[in-house]
Amino acid sequence: MSAVRVPIVVHDREALARERERADGPVAVVMTMGALHEGHAALLRQARARAATVITTIFVNPLQFGPNEDFDRYPRTLATDLELCAREDVDVVFAPSAAVMYPDGQPRTRVNPGPLGEILEGASRPGFFHGVLTVVLKLINLTRPDVVFFGEKDYQQVALVRQMVRDLDLDIEVVGVPTVREPDGLALSSRNRYLSGPERTTALALAAALRAGAAAGEGGAAAVEAAANAVLGDASGLQLDYAVVTAPDLGPAPESGEARLILAAKVGTTRLIDNGPVRLASRTGLPPFTGA
Ligand code: PAF
Repeated sequence: MSAVRVPIVVHDREALARERERADGPVAVVMTMGALHEGHAALLRQARARAATVITTIFVNPLQFGPNEDFDRYPRTLATDLELCAREDVDVVFAPSAAVMYPDGQPRTRVNPGPLGEILEGASRPGFFHGVLTVVLKLINLTRPDVVFFGEKDYQQVALVRQMVRDLDLDIEVVGVPTVREPDGLALSSRNRYLSGPERTTALALAAALRAGAAAGEGGAAAVEAAANAVLGDASGLQLDYAVVTAPDLGPAPESGEARLILAAKVGTTRLIDNGPVRLASRTGLPPFTGA
């Protein structure tokens, strides 16, 4: 059995710069807000397989929380996060304070995510993606990765990071990693720890809605949304925000072919998101009706 190596933990820019200077390439970065779970472990494993040096960032970014959101109660579990990082053979953990990340307070300059940042999560959480992309760009500048890994549970976030990398000519590769689920289908999320036992049972409706939606793909996008809505509408204690079919790039749903079902709902006070692939075959693709 190989010995577990403790990662180097740095909290300020100078120490990070020193570690980055002596890092062997390629360098992979996994950005997180901590409260690490097996979904993060999957990202770290892919990073480890790809790069000579793996850097993880742990920072609960105040810029991406609205005034009535869960910034204050967001779980901060650095000690156990470091154990998971050690287990996954991470080289460097950058865990800055807000004062290190934003030395002048609220930054005057923010990354504007454009129209893609105004739909779905962006419509429900105004300013959310400005906050996400601003911190992601800052962390890219500080860690200088060759490749970054993001979980596909935050599907819109991955799409927006890819868009920013393209639009701003950032010379890095973005890898999306499939969602990790509990055996009963619940997508892993740091926010799952807010859920009581009965709320966790209710939250299973999201995975059930994805399965029902995927099974209705033959009927086209409207049928997929109707199937998902029926499951979510039956779940008492669940407040649906949206259940929408889009193209894989989050554009309008196609008539047929690959698409994505994207969900958001509140269970109790906990906001959950999930998504999954669907294959659409439109009714107009069926042979014409000829008989009486
Ligand atoms: O996905 C997250 O945990 C956060 O949005 C990220 C990418 C670390 C930025 O704060």
